[in-house]
Amino acid sequence: MSTDELPRHVTARAGTNIAFVKYWGKRDKVLNLPATGSLSLTLAELGSETRVRFAADAGEPDGRDRVLLDGAPADDRFAGRVRGFLDLVRARAGVRLPAEVSTTNSVPTAGGLASSASGFAALAVAAARAAGLKLSPVELSVLARRGSGSAARSIFGGFVEMSAGAALDGTDAHAEQILGPEAWDLRLVVALTTRAQKPLGSTAAMERTASTSPYYSSWVESTARELPEARAAVGDRDLARLGAIAERSALRMHACALSAEPPIIYWNPSTLAAVQAVLELRAAGTAAYFTIDAGPHVKVLCPTADAAAVASALGKVPGVQSTIVAAPGPGARVVEEAA
Ligand code: PMV
Repeated sequence: MSTDELPRHVTARAGTNIAFVKYWGKRDKVLNLPATGSLSLTLAELGSETRVRFAADAGEPDGRDRVLLDGAPADDRFAGRVRGFLDLVRARAGVRLPAEVSTTNSVPTAGGLASSASGFAALAVAAARAAGLKLSPVELSVLARRGSGSAARSIFGGFVEMSAGAALDGTDAHAEQILGPEAWDLRLVVALTTRAQKPLGSTAAMERTASTSPYYSSWVESTARELPEARAAVGDRDLARLGAIAERSALRMHACALSAEPPIIYWNPSTLAAVQAVLELRAAGTAAYFTIDAGPHVKVLCPTADAAAVASALGKVPGVQSTIVAAPGPGARVVEEAA
C-alpha cells in the first residue's frame, strides 16, 4: 500500500484483562517473551481507546511521534514505549511517516489496574490498520506482546490463554480465546485501595524477582502445572476450582516478589483487609475469589448475582476508596476509520 492510500486515522478500543494464572517473568527481554503461559479475563468496562494517524504533519516539530494521554502530552517514559512500538509497526509496513497517537483510558490512573494491557492492545490494532497492515488476531496478539506481555491477551475477549511458546522468534507466544465473554455469567469487582501510582513497574519488578528471588524457579514450575488445571476449570465453568487456582497464583506471585532483593511489596493494609473480607464472604457462602496484580488493589471474581453484595462488602473495608463492577468484554477492535 502506498503512503497516500493509508487511512487518515484509525481508532481502536480494547478492554483490560485480569489474570487468574499470572504472568510474572520473561524468557526473553527484547522480544518480551513470557517465561510461562497465563490465563485471564478481558473486561468490558475498563479499557483504552486509541487513535492513530500516520502523516508527514502528524509528529512533533522535531519529527518524533506525538503521543497524547487523556488529551495531554504523555510523560517521556510512556511516550518512549509508544514510539518504540510504532517503530516495529513502521518497519513491518514499510512506512516512514511520523504518527500522532491519542489514548484515553477508562482505567483509573492508580497503579496495578493494568492500563498497559488495554493500551497496547488498542495501539496494536489501531497502528497496524493505520499503517496499512492486514494482520490476523494471532498476529495482532504477537505484535501487542511487544508492547506489554498482558496486552497480547486483550486482543481477545472473554477468557483467554496466553502461551509461553517455544520459538526463539516469539511467533508462538500469543494468546487465544478459550471461552467467549457471554458464556459464563460472572463479574469482576475491583476494590481500589489507593489513588497513588504503583511503586515499581512490572518489567523492572519481574527482572528483579527472576534474578534475586530464591523461589523464582519454583514459581515458573508451579505456574506451568496450574495452567492446564485453570483451562479445564474454565471449560467446566467451575468457579470454585478456578477461584482456588487464582488465589494461589496471585499469592505465589506476590510471595516471589516479596522474597526479591530488595523486596517488592505491593500491598498496603487495605489490600490485606480486602482479602480478609473476601474470605469472610466465602465463609458465609458467597463464591467470591480474589486476585492481586502489581499494585495494592484487590479484584474479586464472583457470580453476577452476587456482585452488588461483594462490592458493598468491599466498599466497607477501611481504606478502600471505591469499587468498580466489571463484566467480561470483547477483544480489541477498530471502532472508527476515516478513509
Ligand atoms: O503486561 P505487564 O508487563 O504489565 O505485566 C503484567 C503483570 C501482572 O499484571 C501482574 C500479571 C498478569 O498476568 O497480568
